[in-house]
Amino acid sequence: MGPAHGDPEVSEMTDQNTAPLVELRGAGKSYGTVRALHGVDLAVHAGRVTCVLGDNGAGKSTLIKIISGLHRHTEGEFLVDGEPVRFDSPRDALAKGIAAVYQDLATIPLMPVWRNFFLGSELTKGPWPLRRLDIARMKETADRELRGMGIALDDLEQPIGTLSGGQRQCVAIARAVHFGARVLILDEPTAALGVKQSGVVLKYIAAARDRGLGVIFITHNPHHAYMVGDNFSVLRLGTLELSAARGDITLEDLTNHMAGGAELATLKHELAQVRGVDTAELP
Ligand SMILES: Nc1ncnc2c1ncn2[C@@H]1O[C@H](COP(=O)(O)OP(=O)(O)OP(=O)(O)O)[C@@H](O)[C@H]1O
Ligand SMILES: [Mg+2]
Repeated sequence: MGPAHGDPEVSEMTDQNTAPLVELRGAGKSYGTVRALHGVDLAVHAGRVTCVLGDNGAGKSTLIKIISGLHRHTEGEFLVDGEPVRFDSPRDALAKGIAAVYQDLATIPLMPVWRNFFLGSELTKGPWPLRRLDIARMKETADRELRGMGIALDDLEQPIGTLSGGQRQCVAIARAVHFGARVLILDEPTAALGVKQSGVVLKYIAAARDRGLGVIFITHNPHHAYMVGDNFSVLRLGTLELSAARGDITLEDLTNHMAGGAELATLKHELAQVRGVDTAELP
């Protein structure tokens, strides 16, 4: 387990003494007349996993688009290292060490793993105009970084398209760590994965946290969130419905908030009227 899960006194001290890497204060975003996000407070600390949960349309993607520089907030404040910022593009966010790994990973399936690892930031050697790719160094570095995160691949020459979805997420996480990310945003990295692969991705989320990154983990799944999360923010219809530290909430509470306890009760009642649907086991 990471440091954050062990000693509550230590984690409280770090919270008080260091500004969050990323902080939103009353932040919001309107697309024209659509108010997608409103009055959101969020703090992301180094060595912590902040989980953002919420149903479809709750505003999760809007939230991370603000932090990753794709969209600008239209209300409230956005601070990095305690300083207000306004990003014009994801490049500005990257320059501050904020990297986002999206679900549709920007990889080239037929290229080898090591090549994808350095995509857009290739290492070269030799003087201009004889500069060429430093293949040996790229392979060696990719291998070291992947191993450093505990990711064991048999062969870095294999096309990245032959890796499982979970493995590809892991390569993307290792890549972000290597290129100096301090804040790692993961948009539903486990959504399309089975139980075992999800476990693998959760393991690397914990590894990134243990390396001192602040991780923002977006998910629909309260179980996945609870396995690695230090803080939980639940969005509903664009506002924060719940914001809690791990010690202040049980998995059951979190699941109830996610499911919308009252809505679920109504749904159960309605389903009970339908023949052939067994509602006995529903919560
Ligand atoms: N570019 C846009 N223009 C107009 N409305 C938008 C835009 N992007 C999102 N919205 C609206 O903002 C609200 C929040 O959307 P958002 O994509 O942030 O939700 P989400 O929590 O990521 O949902 P999902 O789980 O389905 O990915 C929705 O009502 C959506 O229709
Ligand atoms: Mg989304």
